[in-house]
Amino acid sequence: MKLWGGRFTKPTNQLVEEYTASISFDQRLVEEDIRGSLAHVRMLGESGILPAEEVEAIAKGLEKIRDKVRAGDVEFSVAHEDIHMNIEKLLIEEVGPVGGKLHTGRSRNDQVALDMHLYVRARTVDFVKGLTDLRQALTAKAEKHIDAILPGYTHLQRAQPVRFAHHLLAYVDMFGRDVERLMDSYKRVNTMPLGAGAIAGTTFPIQREQVAEELGFDRLYDNSMDAVSDRDYLVEFLSAASLIMVHLSRLSEELILWSSEEFGYVELDDAFCTGSSMMPQKKNPDVPELIRGKTGRVMGHWVSLMTTLKALPLTYNKDMQEDKEGVFDTVDTLTGALALTAPMIEGMTVKEERMRQNAEKGFTNATDLADYLVTKGVPFREAHEVVGRLVLHCLSRGQSLLDLTLEQYREAHPAIQGDVFDRLQVENVTDARSAGCGTARVRVEATILKKKDDIDKA
Ligand code: ARG
Repeated sequence: MKLWGGRFTKPTNQLVEEYTASISFDQRLVEEDIRGSLAHVRMLGESGILPAEEVEAIAKGLEKIRDKVRAGDVEFSVAHEDIHMNIEKLLIEEVGPVGGKLHTGRSRNDQVALDMHLYVRARTVDFVKGLTDLRQALTAKAEKHIDAILPGYTHLQRAQPVRFAHHLLAYVDMFGRDVERLMDSYKRVNTMPLGAGAIAGTTFPIQREQVAEELGFDRLYDNSMDAVSDRDYLVEFLSAASLIMVHLSRLSEELILWSSEEFGYVELDDAFCTGSSMMPQKKNPDVPELIRGKTGRVMGHWVSLMTTLKALPLTYNKDMQEDKEGVFDTVDTLTGALALTAPMIEGMTVKEERMRQNAEKGFTNATDLADYLVTKGVPFREAHEVVGRLVLHCLSRGQSLLDLTLEQYREAHPAIQGDVFDRLQVENVTDARSAGCGTARVRVEATILKKKDDIDKA
């Protein structure tokens, strides 16, 4: 018998039952559902809506069900559609008809919203923790390899030498903004919808503040219709998660490139790579590839939910049940990606020698030769032209700028003096960028300290 069977004259069609049920996926909310019900029933007691002994019986029953669920002793049924009705049905079996009083002053519409708020709140905290661990791993790696210099790229062409630490710290800041975004959306996640009932509120003298306090909510919805229709906090969560995945994917892409023979800047730990069934020599970066590959599905979940919501009239519509699988899949995908990226960074070998060799090739010091001329009073545009011609000269002879003689330099421009050779060493090229947010060692060191402090406070 359905919990809502009274109005019906026929049993539900078997296919309809299967099509409308969400228990296969929303059983993930079982802890949140029971927690919410416990807070609700205690409030019903304190508000004088239910007598103490009934509250006691219901609460004991819920706790017992929770124990059984944790022990794996509960089987949910499609006939009871979703986690909310499955638990209520189990409760009635456990404690008898008094279990039917739990749902007083409540609807599944505010109940499911409550469960999702609780669930996403906890995952928001998990992700902040995961991001913080990752930021820590990146910062530690940066500190360890402060002297490594590699070519920085624009258009994937060698541009200017940068410290490897500086490159890693760019990701520390990207993931730092991700933390900020999650913290900001936390305010809206941590708003309690219970008390909205199905749509219009409840006729019982409930005390929402008490439930909110027990469940750790900072705020309450002011409008019952908004409370049961709002999925903005899920959109924000999926949006923040999508951007985190995009950042992880960009980092992954660099790890894939860097660990190729062609770049040869890092070697990923054997424990984080896989082999080929045919080619014995292969060591493949499957983990970063999969993170890159899975980014699309998370972005897809955001699009999917936005599309579900865009033409929905107020208030609850069954379409909204579609909010869950995308959120759950996002949680699983992001949890895995975060958990793997930090140790992958920690465990990778950094090939400083190879980085430096490449940094010294490709005229990454050409801008500095132009800047050098500017410090000697030459207009930048003229300096650019002079250096461009020198680069062309070197290219035709397979040389680098440091292979030229002082005579050749002076021929190119009389303002060039013997100190130019020192100025063009990669080390000095990076350290010349000590202003603003540049890649000089002193700046990078200061930034590492700042980030460590930041991470400690998170
Ligand atoms: N399983 C439903 C969902 O996930 C719970 C709310 C159902 N409410 C309703 N009136 N059918 O959205």
